[in-house]
Amino acid sequence: MHHADTSLVPDSIQSKSDFWLHVHGQLASLLEGQRDWVTNLANTSSLVYNALLSFRSFGNGSAAVNWCGFYIDSTLFPSPKLTASHEDALLEGTSKILLGPFCGKPACQFINTTPGKGRGVCADAYLSRQTLLVRDVNAYPGHIACDGDTNSEIVCPLVLTLEDKVVCLGVFDLDCLAVGGFGEEDKAGLERIARLVVESCDW
Ligand code: SME
Repeated sequence: MHHADTSLVPDSIQSKSDFWLHVHGQLASLLEGQRDWVTNLANTSSLVYNALLSFRSFGNGSAAVNWCGFYIDSTLFPSPKLTASHEDALLEGTSKILLGPFCGKPACQFINTTPGKGRGVCADAYLSRQTLLVRDVNAYPGHIACDGDTNSEIVCPLVLTLEDKVVCLGVFDLDCLAVGGFGEEDKAGLERIARLVVESCDW
């Protein structure tokens, strides 16, 4: 099978629970043998985005998914070798998540996750380590609008358990053009995919 074909969704798949089961299986084989998080998150965002667009309820014009990607704890990114950037100096003492691999239009580069200062759906999901299902982004206090066409959103934290410590590595964020685009079955499916992604990479 060509790599691109892993994002195809057979016509026999009709329910959301079958859809997420199928995507999970395709992703597990796509990530096999690769442990680099940049590579695996790039393929995950592409597979999930394109599979959603080929699935009946998400590929449909005004209800389509319009962004799918990751924001990752800035400390996991490679650092400049010679000098800290001006922006890093200004942000010293804050924590942030940086834009990682994604599919869709350009998005904000970083999100402040300093407790008490961070705002938006991604920061709230990151800090609470809970999946946030937002029916109407315009009604969400502090929502960061990267694209004015987005109306609903789901953000799932990437949580790693290291012996007795629980670490949040970043978030998996999906946007939809429709109000109420995502539901409980998507939440369960994405949480399972987030667990697979975390386990499939060396952090
Ligand atoms: N809406 C997010 C920002 C990221 S974009 O949707 C890609 C938020 O409120 O955190």
